Amino acid sequence: MTDAVPTPPATLVIFGATGDLTRRLLIPAIINLTRSGLVGDDLHILGIGIDQGDDEMLRGKLDDFLAGLGGDQPLSKDEAWLRLRKRISYLAGDFTKDEIYGEIGKRLNGNAAFYLAVPPRFFGEIVERLAANKLTTEGENCFRRIAIEKPFGTDLASAKALNAQILSKVAESQVYRLDHFLGKETVQNLMTARFANMMIEALWNNRYIDNVQITAAEIVDVGSRGAFYDATGALRDMVPNHLFQLLAMIAMEPPNSFDAEAIRNEKSKVLKALRVYTPEEAKTHGVRGVYTAGKLNGADITAYHDTPQVAPGSKTETFVALKLYADTWRWAGVPFYLRTGKAMTARDTEIVVTFQPVPFAQFRETEVNRRLPPNRLIIQVQPDEGMSMEISIKSPGLSVDTVPVSLDFRYADQFDIGKMTGYESLIYDLMIGDQTLFQRADGIEAGWAAVQPFLDLWAKEGEPEAYAPGTMGPACADELIERDNRHWHDIGAIAKKT
Ligand code: BG6
Repeated sequence: MTDAVPTPPATLVIFGATGDLTRRLLIPAIINLTRSGLVGDDLHILGIGIDQGDDEMLRGKLDDFLAGLGGDQPLSKDEAWLRLRKRISYLAGDFTKDEIYGEIGKRLNGNAAFYLAVPPRFFGEIVERLAANKLTTEGENCFRRIAIEKPFGTDLASAKALNAQILSKVAESQVYRLDHFLGKETVQNLMTARFANMMIEALWNNRYIDNVQITAAEIVDVGSRGAFYDATGALRDMVPNHLFQLLAMIAMEPPNSFDAEAIRNEKSKVLKALRVYTPEEAKTHGVRGVYTAGKLNGADITAYHDTPQVAPGSKTETFVALKLYADTWRWAGVPFYLRTGKAMTARDTEIVVTFQPVPFAQFRETEVNRRLPPNRLIIQVQPDEGMSMEISIKSPGLSVDTVPVSLDFRYADQFDIGKMTGYESLIYDLMIGDQTLFQRADGIEAGWAAVQPFLDLWAKEGEPEAYAPGTMGPACADELIERDNRHWHDIGAIAKKT
C-alpha cells in the first residue's frame, strides 16, 4: 500500500459530542492521528450536543476525561491534545430542529464530514435535515460525507428503509457506515494474510478446508447497558455486522484491485451468497443462551435477568451460535460456525480455519494414525493479536510418533503496535475519502437477510438456554457442532499459551 498522506483541510462535525463514544474513542484517535502528523492544524472539530455550553465547556469535559487516560502521562497534558484542543468548538442545540443546521452552515467553509455518534433512531432524520439545509451538497473541490455508527437497522426491513431514506438524500459515495471491527489491525491483516501468501490462498477452498469457526467471546457482562441490550441481543449486536465482516474477509474472492469498490464488491458478493434459511432450517442451525448469576474471575456477576433495565421475562439472548453456509463454488459444503457471547470464560476474538485430514495416513501400524489432528490456522483478532499454524511433526525418538505443534506469530513480539483505539484508520479514511473499510448498503442488507430467519424464529420462541458466567456458553452450542462430529476451539486457548 502507499504511504499515508495528511488529511485535507476539513471540519469534522460530531453529533453527540458530549457522549461516551466521542470522548472514549473519537478524540483519543484524533489525538493519535495528530501526533503522527496525519491530521494537521487544518482539521477543525465542531461538536454538536444537547447540553448547554460553549467551546470551553466541551474542551473542559474532554480535559477531565483525558486526564484519566495514559497513566503517569495523562493524555490531557499531551502536546498533540493541546494543539488539537484549540481547534475544537461547540454548538448547543436540538438536532431534531432546523435552527441548529443553519448555525452549522455558518460555521462550515469547504470540506466537512458529519459523524453521527448519536442513538440510531436519529440517523435518518439528521441526514434529511442536513440535506434540506444544503449541508450535504458537494462541490468540485468540496466533499461532504456522513459517518454512521452501528447498529444500522434492527432487522432487514428497517435496514432497507434506512438505506432508502439516506440514499434518497445523498449518494452512496458520501456514506461511511462504520463497523469498528474493521479498524482493528488484525482484521485489516486478513486480506494481506490471504492475498499476499500463496501457501495460504492456494489451500483456501472446500477441497482443503473442513470448517471455519468465528468466535467473539467477551468477559464483560451487560452491566449498565441493559436498556440498549435488552432491545438488541447478541445476534443483532454482533453478528450481521462484526462477525459477518470477519466472515466476508475470510470468504471473499480476491478483488481485482485494492480499490474500495473492488473490495466492497467482493465482500458484498459473498454476503449475498450466505444461505438464507427456511423457518424449519433456522431451528437446527442456530442456538441462543442467556447467562445466569455466578462468579467470573472472582467477581460476582448479576444474572442477565436481574440486570437494571432488562424487562421482566425478557427473551433476549446474551449468547448466540450459528452454523452458516456461503453458497459459492469455493465454499460449497464448508460450514461456518459463528458464536459470540457476554460473560464468557475469556475475551477472545478469533478465526479458526480447520483443514481436511490428510487423505491417506502412512502411519498405519502406529497408534497415532487414529489421532492425527488436522492442520489449523488460528487468526487471533484480540487480545494477543497474531496467527498460529498448527501442524503435525514427528516427535523425536526411534518410533514414528506424530505430535501437533504450533508455529506462532504475535504482533507484539515484532512490532510496536502502540496504544491505538482502532478508530484511527476509520477516521483517517473518512477524511481522505477511502471507503474500503466501510460497509456498503447492499452488504448490510445481505447480512440482515441471512440473520432474519433466526430473528423471526426466536421472536416466537421462549427463553434462551441458561449458561453460567465464565463458561463457553450453553450446552446447546456444543450440540450444534458436535452433531457434525466437530468441536469448538477452546475459548482463550491462545492467551493461555502466551
Ligand atoms: C459493540 C457491541 O459493537 O462491540 C458491544 O455493541 C461489544 O456489545 C463490542 O462489547 C465489542 O467490541 P470490541 O472491540 O470490544 O471487541
